[in-house]
Amino acid sequence: MDDKIVLTGIKPTGTPHIGNYIGALKPLIKMSQSHKTFMFIADLHALNAVHNAKEIKQHTYEIAALMIAMGLNLENTVLFRQSDIDEIYKLSSFLMNVTPKGLMNRAHSYKACVEKNMEMGADVDTGVNMGLYTYPILMAADILLYNSDIVPVGKDQKQHVEFARDIAGYFNNLYGKTFKLPEPVISEDAGLIPGLDGRKMSKSYDNTIPLFAPSNELKKKIMRIITDSKTPEESKDPDTSTIFQLYKHFANESEIAALRKRFLDGGMGYGTAKTILFEKIDSVLSTPRAEYERLMANTSEIDAILADGAQKARFVASKTIAKVKKKMLG
Ligand code: TRP
Repeated sequence: MDDKIVLTGIKPTGTPHIGNYIGALKPLIKMSQSHKTFMFIADLHALNAVHNAKEIKQHTYEIAALMIAMGLNLENTVLFRQSDIDEIYKLSSFLMNVTPKGLMNRAHSYKACVEKNMEMGADVDTGVNMGLYTYPILMAADILLYNSDIVPVGKDQKQHVEFARDIAGYFNNLYGKTFKLPEPVISEDAGLIPGLDGRKMSKSYDNTIPLFAPSNELKKKIMRIITDSKTPEESKDPDTSTIFQLYKHFANESEIAALRKRFLDGGMGYGTAKTILFEKIDSVLSTPRAEYERLMANTSEIDAILADGAQKARFVASKTIAKVKKKMLG
């Protein structure tokens, strides 16, 4: 066991797809085998954009069920729902007072909104709620509440983890060393997983493959992957092929080498390659898919796991809050 504490949150804003799994969830599940891990569903972070409780709750269950079904190590991992931890609201409020407004002005996602408004000639604040504006403070509170050392995130979240370090630093400078400075760990592959049309797999491009689609739906999706127009005889480039790029994440070394060779040698059509990809994904996912479906039909089981996680998380969080309160208020 490594003694570093790993923490990450996943926003419940969509049904997890293969890109989410390969880029973010799979590395996390792997890390949970060797580290004490805090992993939560960031439902409070969804609130600035999603104003529909049913939707948030459904995606919360989906993410929790997925992580459990795919083998998250529940011995080492505290799995919980962010909103179950009362201490998170407290730490965010406390951290507001040491966080410069200018830092928030520099946040990429907020800046993107402002720039879009300016381009469209709208008021700069159009569509910006305070949840969006203070999003990085809530995220810093997530990270600092549990003494995290390592925060695995996608590239788009790197700045937020750096802000958490900055905010920890401001606090420590004012009140003496209180928080550890967390390190972002950026998953190499994140963002490079191609979707059905070859662009990055993303909900916003409508090119995703759901991780736990039923077999027939999975097959239909995979058959829709866009390829170039090479004939079966021609040699094909595995490194630019969406089919091969997805296959790599589900097959073992020798299977990967064998398919690579068939791409390069020629003599295999894309239809055949898609069938090979479908069969691989379908067989790798069949057992976890059954477990996922079982959990989704028994959400009280998920609730029990999340409640247990919340209790463990609050044990750590309450100590942090006591420490912070003492330093700030005496
Ligand atoms: N903001 C992250 C995202 O959109 C989710 C998140 C919330 C998170 N709190 C976190 C990630 C703390 C890492 C650590 O993906």
